[in-house]
Amino acid sequence: MTMIARNMLFEPGAPLRGTVSVPGDKSISHRSLMLSALAVGESRVSGLLEGEDVLATAGAMRALGAQIERSADGVWHIHGVGVGSLVQPTTALDMGNSGTSTRLLMGLLASHALTATFIGDASLSKRPMGRVTAPLGLMGAQFMTSPGERLPLTMRGIVPAVPIEYRLPVASAQVKSAVLLAGLNAPGITRVIEPVPTRDHSERMLKGFGVDLRVETETDGTRIISVRGEAELRPQTLVVPGDPSSAAFPIVAALITPGSDVTVTNVGMNPTRTGIFRMLQAMGADLTITNEREVGGEPVADLVARHSTLTGIDVPPDIAPSMIDEFPIFFVAAAHAQGITRTSGLDELRVKESDRLALMAHGLARIGASVEEREDGLIITGHGGDPLGGGNSAPTIAAELDHRIAMSFAIAGLNTRGGLIIDDMSPVATSFPGFVELLSGLRGAA
Ligand code: S3P
Repeated sequence: MTMIARNMLFEPGAPLRGTVSVPGDKSISHRSLMLSALAVGESRVSGLLEGEDVLATAGAMRALGAQIERSADGVWHIHGVGVGSLVQPTTALDMGNSGTSTRLLMGLLASHALTATFIGDASLSKRPMGRVTAPLGLMGAQFMTSPGERLPLTMRGIVPAVPIEYRLPVASAQVKSAVLLAGLNAPGITRVIEPVPTRDHSERMLKGFGVDLRVETETDGTRIISVRGEAELRPQTLVVPGDPSSAAFPIVAALITPGSDVTVTNVGMNPTRTGIFRMLQAMGADLTITNEREVGGEPVADLVARHSTLTGIDVPPDIAPSMIDEFPIFFVAAAHAQGITRTSGLDELRVKESDRLALMAHGLARIGASVEEREDGLIITGHGGDPLGGGNSAPTIAAELDHRIAMSFAIAGLNTRGGLIIDDMSPVATSFPGFVELLSGLRGAA
């Protein structure tokens, strides 16, 4: 990904009003391309997120032998090569900013007899890969990593890979998916034991592609996911719903900006993703879920958010996986609530595209919010709906190549006296192309 420095000022102005839709779900988009590349024949995908992260996956799948084209009507056509038939890439796979592309592809390649090198940007090169090299190593893949099990790394997959039973030491859909994808080309049953449920798009989609995958749920909520290897995937026609993680930005913007009334249509409502909406409602948000339906095997709805008086809450740590990417924008909502919001169990936020606990604590404090940073969460005493800020000049917030930090502070800026400057908005293109235009459209529509 080419990074272009792009300062941008966000300041109070008109309320947000109108109806918008957000780009396709990032998790489902990555998986659509990967699984289609493993099916023999042509799959079609509409609603694909055309952001840099997903384009990195598309580039990698092409380098591994799939044919991928976008037709004029925005539909993506993927001609897959079949499980076990990915080809040796001739150059390093550049994953840009995308942890999901990297970890899922490492899984896919672990059970193919080829060697691949993964590179990425400065943010991705700091992120831990030991969480996937450990189980994939047990399956027989070999890795040569940079210090700390980081990128750049070179891996050598193996055929036949050893099917394993693996208990996830960290609640991570990426690790779960990496092992399941490796299992697709291993003889026998590969099993993942998931003590805390995480997003289940891989499970739903693998079944949709015709893979023999079973999920058992134990009485304590532990999930055991078993996939039968040497699988044959059938090509599919897929529709990607709007990304709830992206929808959270205009929704929180509407909730905290006086006079706002925003509808976001076609939002994915998979319960493993919607913790943010449940927590906002628990804070008293005027957030209505309408027109609930199913699209492409995923629940979808339209969401209506109006300016609200929010009240601080204690967020139960077990809800974290279902809103793991939404904490940055949730913290912004908490800073505008009445009273105290406490979060805990969020150690994973320190190893996302940035250390999100540190950056959010630091940035919110700079615009006058009252924040206490703990090792595994933030405690925020809200301003009760009054705008934050009030210093002499608009502070500059460093997004550190983290799209969600950039977007969260952009929304905060709309409610910060004198506004704030984001040092570089370009990372937003990884997950939410059109974010700035969508915000200005909603303000212009007032
Ligand atoms: C994702 C899983 C989550 C999430 C990421 C997308 C996925 O990561 O933060 O944005 O598509 O599987 P972890 O598995 O590291 O929690």
